[in-house]
Amino acid sequence: MVKPIQVSASVLCADFSKLAEEIRKTVDAGCDRIHVDVMDGHFVPNISIGPVIVQAIRPLTKLPLEAHLMIENPHFYVDAFAGAGADIIAIHAECYGCRRSWCQKWDQFPKEVEAIDVPLAREAMGQIKKAGKKVFMALNPGTPMCLGPLLKDLDGVLVMSVNPGFPRQKFLDGVLSKVRALREELNFNGDITIDGGVNEATAPSAVGAGANILVTASYFYGSQDPRRVVNSLKSI
Ligand code: DX5
Ligand code: ZN
Repeated sequence: MVKPIQVSASVLCADFSKLAEEIRKTVDAGCDRIHVDVMDGHFVPNISIGPVIVQAIRPLTKLPLEAHLMIENPHFYVDAFAGAGADIIAIHAECYGCRRSWCQKWDQFPKEVEAIDVPLAREAMGQIKKAGKKVFMALNPGTPMCLGPLLKDLDGVLVMSVNPGFPRQKFLDGVLSKVRALREELNFNGDITIDGGVNEATAPSAVGAGANILVTASYFYGSQDPRRVVNSLKSI
């Protein structure tokens, strides 16, 4: 079954001095989801926002709120994000496996793993399920598709198309082979999110590969015509 394309607006590029207005704009433009990029300065070389922002957004919209946890030990924070009102919690595969030799020190980024530790990841996923939330596993660009045994228990896979940490980066086409592998070889029927560098020029190849959720921060919040952005992404 072909899944309709959904647009998820990442509030990372919203104007936080008028968050309620920005959320109204996001809803009015026709976005399907709101994406909250959580960064801890350890898993990624940047610090962003946490559960208080999810809590602030929650009463402003009925749209699903997804917390993308770019943090070390994300399982410690599942209850905080669930309690704040997130509907979907995305954790990173790189938090559950042996890091590649070149990213083991605290100041070496991006974090990558060759394989995921299945029992550890399953435990963290179980915590998200237990909180009654949807669980997505995220993969950094350099981490291969290593989710085989976990796929049947995942609601979605979030494929990063930039190295996480900052908005406004260039889309990395190479990650689309993982999207194709999920749909074609592994017959994954859940959601596939593509996150990073999404715009009108890059989205068609992501959708062509099999992604059905497109995250956008700078392209959406930087636009003078957000409704047009959403319509054009959804009509791919
Ligand atoms: C990457 C984040 C993304 C990113 C999107 O660090 O997970 O959501 O900020 O930003 P744009 O859409 O500007 O690439
Ligand atoms: Zn994100």
